[in-house]
Amino acid sequence: MSVDATTEELQADSGEVPSEDADRGRGLILIVDDDRNHAEGSRDVLEMVGFRCDVATSGAEGISMLSRRQYDLVLTDLVMDDVDGMEIIRQAQQINPFVAVVVFTGHATIETAVEALKRGAVDYLVKPLNIEGLRVRVERALEHQELVRVNRELEERLDKRFGFEKIIGNSEPMRKVIELCKQIAETDVSVLITGENGTGKELIAQALHENSLRKGRPLVPLNCAALSPQLVESELFGHEKGAFTGANFQKKGRFEFSDRGTLFLDEVGDIPMETQVKLLRVLEDGEITRVGSNKPIKVDVRLISATNREIETLIEDGKFREDLYYRLKVVTVHLPPLRERRQDIPLLLNHFIGQFSRAYKKPVREIEREAVNILSSYSWPGNVRELKHVVENMVVVSGGPVLMVENLPESIHQGQHKSPTEVQSLVGVPLKEVEKILIEQTLEQVGGNRQEAARMLGIGERTMYRKLKEYGLS
Ligand SMILES: Nc1ncnc2c1ncn2[C@@H]1O[C@H](COP(=O)(O)OP(=O)(O)OP(=O)(O)O)[C@@H](O)[C@H]1O
Ligand SMILES: [Mg+2]
Repeated sequence: MSVDATTEELQADSGEVPSEDADRGRGLILIVDDDRNHAEGSRDVLEMVGFRCDVATSGAEGISMLSRRQYDLVLTDLVMDDVDGMEIIRQAQQINPFVAVVVFTGHATIETAVEALKRGAVDYLVKPLNIEGLRVRVERALEHQELVRVNRELEERLDKRFGFEKIIGNSEPMRKVIELCKQIAETDVSVLITGENGTGKELIAQALHENSLRKGRPLVPLNCAALSPQLVESELFGHEKGAFTGANFQKKGRFEFSDRGTLFLDEVGDIPMETQVKLLRVLEDGEITRVGSNKPIKVDVRLISATNREIETLIEDGKFREDLYYRLKVVTVHLPPLRERRQDIPLLLNHFIGQFSRAYKKPVREIEREAVNILSSYSWPGNVRELKHVVENMVVVSGGPVLMVENLPESIHQGQHKSPTEVQSLVGVPLKEVEKILIEQTLEQVGGNRQEAARMLGIGERTMYRKLKEYGLS
């Protein structure tokens, strides 16, 4: 079949219905060809099987379109009047290093096509094209591009090797955490890491993996909160080509990528109920089935999960399966909030001052005693991440070798303890009354965010809800 095939022929050929949001962002193609008929013919073929395409009918137009949208694949003619295909390859890769480029070439210019491969094109297609050839080669190029991207992501993660020595802290609670981690790192038990935002859950997951027997294999992360239910499943288990609209090619899931390594499920409390059933089965059977397939695949995966939500509350509300919860938390590592291990604050301050003064080439060496005192009594709702940002900020704006009280950000000054005279005005007021005022004003300060307010007041979310009800606060 040629690229001039009729719509009926194409639909009979594809068996798929074209979709507007095919594969959510994957499969966006730019076709650059100054032969308009050929360009539009190729576009029709590819759109018919579910890809989204833009067409440029000159090299210059192609380059300008490259800078406007993020394409997954560029199909370009090699010989054009204004800008040649080699320049399109160069520009496409400069704008997006993960783009796949495939070139069109005539029989007469095959040598040039080989040159194009040397410059980074992943394939070439000889004109005139046939439909099946075009479709198969485009799918293969995209699959290749996806593999490159995932591998690069994994390599970057592997660069960040963390031992326990990278976890700063000498307080009693942190020493217990490290002790526990050392005991369980080499085993294959499932670990659930709990703790508020910014307490270091991901850092602990990395350290557990790096100190395990699986450290030569990948640590594959998946943030479950960022994905829709359908995407969570296809990310976890992979899918077969055609499993759902937009599944244009077969895709491995994170379970397969983490085979003989570790899978890190971040924000595990957000996994949709229907996926929880499947996840539980996978953990029990040690095998996965790609979406759209019925062939089980054996996987050997160590699971580490993390959450900042109270899973028990989710279970009470019917949003999390109790049986899965027990599977995930064979061992629980709880990271206490920073306000419960203030002893670590000076150590963390020193650590980050060193890190950021090197990074920003600043001569900062230390921090004034009074500033340490203020920082040590602050409530740190954002925990270590917040402290890290505060130090970064202070180092950047500092002028000399010592960080001073006046370098402290406004938020820290505002969050300081109330002075004794202010507390005095409350003396004699019933405790319940004071508690009500405190909750009311804290809520006001954080714009009504109950989770945040509970955190600042050092109480659990459930306690917060109970008190709100008790005091009739909405
Ligand atoms: N004990 C620590 N020592 C050194 N750096 C730390 C420590 N704890 C956290 N950090 C740093 O603080 C930042 C936040 O940590 P991390 O991302 O691990 O937190 P998290 O608990 O996963 O947060 P979230 O719940 O928001 O995902 C990171 O840059 C991390 O390297
Ligand atoms: Mg995290």
